[in-house]
Order: sequence, then structure tokens, then C-alpha cells
Amino acid sequence: MSQSVSPLDQAALDRVADQAAAAAQGAADLEELAGLRRQWTGDQSAIAQANKAIKSLPGADKAQAGKNMGVVKRRVFAAFDARREALEEQAAARQLATQTVDVTLPTGRIPRGARHPLELLQDRIADVFTAMGWMIAEGPELEAEWFNFDALNFGPDHPARQMQDTFFVDPPGSGLVMRTHTSPVQARVLLSHGVPCYVAVPGKVFRTDELDATHTPVFHQVEGLAIDKNLTMADLRGTLDRLADAMFGAGVVTRLRPSFFPFTEPSAELDLLCFVCRAKDPACRTCGGSGWIEWGGCGMVDPNVLVACGVDPTQYQGFAFGMGIERTLMFRGGVQDMHDMVEGDVRFSGNFGVEI
Ligand code: PHE
Repeated sequence: MSQSVSPLDQAALDRVADQAAAAAQGAADLEELAGLRRQWTGDQSAIAQANKAIKSLPGADKAQAGKNMGVVKRRVFAAFDARREALEEQAAARQLATQTVDVTLPTGRIPRGARHPLELLQDRIADVFTAMGWMIAEGPELEAEWFNFDALNFGPDHPARQMQDTFFVDPPGSGLVMRTHTSPVQARVLLSHGVPCYVAVPGKVFRTDELDATHTPVFHQVEGLAIDKNLTMADLRGTLDRLADAMFGAGVVTRLRPSFFPFTEPSAELDLLCFVCRAKDPACRTCGGSGWIEWGGCGMVDPNVLVACGVDPTQYQGFAFGMGIERTLMFRGGVQDMHDMVEGDVRFSGNFGVEI
């Protein structure tokens, strides 16, 4: 390929430069261009050879030959540089085009998980109380019998203590139970925090029930406790109505029905007017024809509980309540069967939203 060219032969040098520039222009990609550049400007090339020949020229010709070579080399390098820039631009454009994301392409879907609706509901309930300025507390699920029963005015021989539905913890006489309600946290908070006290306690509780459509051995409650000066049953009623509105929508009808708990006096069950028949269908399956649905227990805190927790009942009094969270979810979400809540099928949870 390398023709021998004299550095003084301007026409021949121009021809070499034309050929080199044409070769550069014809390079299809950067790799080919790099090969051609070596070929037209490398050691063996006509240009390099002509450059070398300058030293053996007579002194008088050297300057002219040097000028000629300078012009030729600048032309040739400029031609290669221009082509390289053009090819690099093309390559960048191609890369951008292939990097385009087609957002309409179907993806390999990894199913998203969902928080359990019972957890979400506990958060919502906690929000209701936080908005009223109450504290949120938690207590242990494995609980001292003293907190679960004694502090709450269950006498040593109180039948509820031996009720079939308590999980006692081995060894016998350990003094430990799986808490049967969230009420022991009333005593814990009174002892650790003192009065006045406004606290809501969501959490798991345990009873030896068989799993069926309406029972589960592990379920959830939200406990409420308010102790202050001058609290009355009207405050209890107002608080529960506020919670009922937040859970079921404004205008839900509630009633207090006299009942008994060792730790409240007077005590009541809180019922909701049946959502389905509104107390108009004696054959209604939701309320069993009674017109009312039981939601939870409540009452004015028994002075014996206050005394057990170091609070002076002549100065302070207040109310407490405990609502079932599963029941709340059943009424709110139209869940018919407890199995759906415990089986952990994400298709069930997903129906209640997937908020994090
Ligand atoms: N702890 C009671 C229960 O589990 C509910 C309750 C709580 C009643 C607070 C009165 C006051 O049935």
C-alpha cells in the first residue's frame, strides 16, 4: 500500500492526502477507522516515510519539505478526527435509541404483599385516640396473673380466673397466663404513668376457643382507659360514640346495656344498631333478630382497681372499655368468616389496600 512519495512532490502528497481522507470518510465504524488511521498515518505509511525522508534532503529543501508535510498531516489527521467524531455521535445516538424504555411492555410480576387488615385497623384506631390527645401503650402478651386478674379486682376464687378459656402457662403455679384481655395494661399504665391518664392499648389476646366462623383463640382488642378528676359516664359515652363514628361512619347508633365486669362499676356492653336490618327484621342473620350487635365491654373503673394501682379513688375516677378488633373488621369490612382473617391469604389482605 505504501507508495513512496517525495516530501517535495506537492501533487503526490496531495493525492495521498485525498486518498487518506476518502478512506477515513468511508470507515463504517470506529474500529475500522482506527485500522485505517494506522494504515494511513502509522510508521509504514507513505506519509510517515515521506516525513522520514526529510532528514536526508539537501539542507536547502528541508524547510519546504517540512511545510509540505505539515499541511498534509494536518489535512489527514483532521479527516480522521472528523470521521471519528461523526461515528461517535452515531454510536451515542444508537445507544440512546436502544436504551429507550418501553413502558407498555408486560413485566414479570412479583406479587406485592399487603399489611394485614387487622394491623391497619389497629393503626386507624390508634390514630383516632392520638387525635384526641390520648397516649398509645402496649403490654406483654405473656402476662402475670396478678395484672390479668388480681389488679383488676378478680378475687382469688373468682370464677372468671378458672374460666375454661384462660391459657395458663407451665409449670403450674408459674403465676403466668397468656393475657385474656388487654385490661391488664390498665394497671401497668396506671402504675408506670400515674394520673391523670388517657391511654389506648391495641393488642393481641388469647382464649382457649376453637377456631370457627366467629371465634379464634388469638384475637385483638383495643383497650381504653381515662382517669382524671370529674370524669363521668357521659364522657365514656361520648368517647365511644366518637370511636364508633370513626369506625363505621357518622350516624351509627349505639346503646349501653347493663352488664358486669369485676373491674368496672357500673359496667355495660356497648351495642351497635344492626347495620343490616336496623332492628327491623326479626329474622336478620347479622344480629340474630335482636336488632343490636355487641361490640365491646365498658364501665366506670372500680375504685378497687384504682387502689391496687396506687390511685386515690376519692380524687380520681374514670372509665375503661375494651372492643374486639376482629368484630370491628367484620362489621366494617363485611368479613363473614374468621378463617379469612387468620389464614394469611394475601388476596384477602389485598382487598383492604396495600398501604405501608
Ligand atoms: N376486658 C373486657 C373483656 O375482655 C372488656 C372490658 C374492658 C370491659 C374494659 C370493661 C372495661 O371482655
